[in-house]
Amino acid sequence: MVSARHILLGALALGATAFPATAPVQIAQRTSPSAASLDDAFSAAVKEKRVPGIAAIALNRDGSVLYKNSWGTVNIDDDKSAPITSSTKMNIASMTKSVVAVAALQLVEQDKLSLDDFVEDYYPEWKNISVLDGFTDDGEPILRAPKTKATILHLITHTAGQGYWFLDEGISKWTEWSNKQETKTPTPLAADPGAGWFYGSNIDTLGYVIEAISGLRLDDYIEYNIFKPLGIKNSGFIQADMYTHRRHENGTITATAAPAPISPTAKPGGGGYLISTIDDYSTYLVTLINWGTHPQSGATILKSSTIRKYVFTDLIPVAISGDGTCDFKQQGPPVGIWESNVQTMSLSSEFLPGTKKGWSASLLINKEDVPGRRKANSGAWAGINNLFYWVDLKSGKLGAVFTNLQPFLDPEVLGLFDKLEEFVYAA
Ligand SMILES: *[C@@H]1O[C@H](CO)[C@@H](O)[C@H](O)[C@H]1NC(C)=O
Ligand SMILES: *[C@@H]1O[C@H](CO)[C@@H](O)[C@H](O)[C@H]1NC(C)=O
Repeated sequence: MVSARHILLGALALGATAFPATAPVQIAQRTSPSAASLDDAFSAAVKEKRVPGIAAIALNRDGSVLYKNSWGTVNIDDDKSAPITSSTKMNIASMTKSVVAVAALQLVEQDKLSLDDFVEDYYPEWKNISVLDGFTDDGEPILRAPKTKATILHLITHTAGQGYWFLDEGISKWTEWSNKQETKTPTPLAADPGAGWFYGSNIDTLGYVIEAISGLRLDDYIEYNIFKPLGIKNSGFIQADMYTHRRHENGTITATAAPAPISPTAKPGGGGYLISTIDDYSTYLVTLINWGTHPQSGATILKSSTIRKYVFTDLIPVAISGDGTCDFKQQGPPVGIWESNVQTMSLSSEFLPGTKKGWSASLLINKEDVPGRRKANSGAWAGINNLFYWVDLKSGKLGAVFTNLQPFLDPEVLGLFDKLEEFVYAA
């Protein structure tokens, strides 16, 4: 089910060809679905192989469980593979980004870092970074020096210009060009720092900043300063024995080979190095909606003022062209618009269409209440393997679904995620 909250852009052609095997689109139910019908929706989707094995959770602010269940096995093609549970490790990809942003904010609280600091002061390689200004007729990239210096605020809000290749045509073309070159040059920026929102590798760079300041590897920093205090034990820079899945153009899903194990000595990328479980990640999220302190253990990872000021506040108005020194028209897509140029990785869509959106450190923020659902200034984000969550600071409710399927923004998974949210706010 694709509800009105996730209108797939340019998906009409796709919808006709990519999902013929899925159930017909249903009209969103007007009555509140009970927990039993939520169970039914998930279990039917798994049974009919419309989604791979999946876990769902919803918690109240005090950590009490509003809903928790899991269905299916780790490998859709093998009924005898391990069942999915709330402690199944999954590749959470970009769900890593919020954790890395929190790590950076800890350093801000300790006065070891300021959001106004320049990136190049901690990460000297940045001094060599250029802006991609298009291509010559011969297909050579036109590169120039940035007009502004990137700050930590730019990194943490995805406004430093570091756009992912699959979301930016110019960077995609540059990557093709670069692959043909003998000497590798750093990926250029899609635009000047502060010129617009470009979702991308900004948080990887933020990870290098954290390493430079702390003197620790990023995964060690996060283990010691976030996971250990919260009692999170099944999350980290590890390669579990896991499957990934692909929805093919004909709509069917098959398991694909797990990604090659990551060497424990590899540099962890702050944009997506984590493997985690829905139990662990919801422990992290419930800490965020308790203003940085876990409701049961009392462990604190951030001060409440930091949570309020940075984690659940739209920082885009400050981050984009704040000082007036550059004559920028906002570049890049509006926050929350997602236009993929690699449909095998991600479909195109808009998050929360019709709702004003911003970006904090480092969550998608809805600036208005979503009727019957999350309140204004909730935070949300996702992982490319179709994992999604929201955290509602005002209502004190959160929810997440964890699975392992590409391409991103799968309508079936989003439909189930919508049902979970409807259930939570009807309860
Ligand atoms: C910048 O690039 C040049 C040429 O590739 C290289 O020699 C130099 O070390 C780089 N500087 C930094 C700070 O990375
Ligand atoms: C769907 O496509 C996949 C990949 O091309 C193929 O392996 C599978 O057999 C197809 N299934 C059906 C039912 O057509």
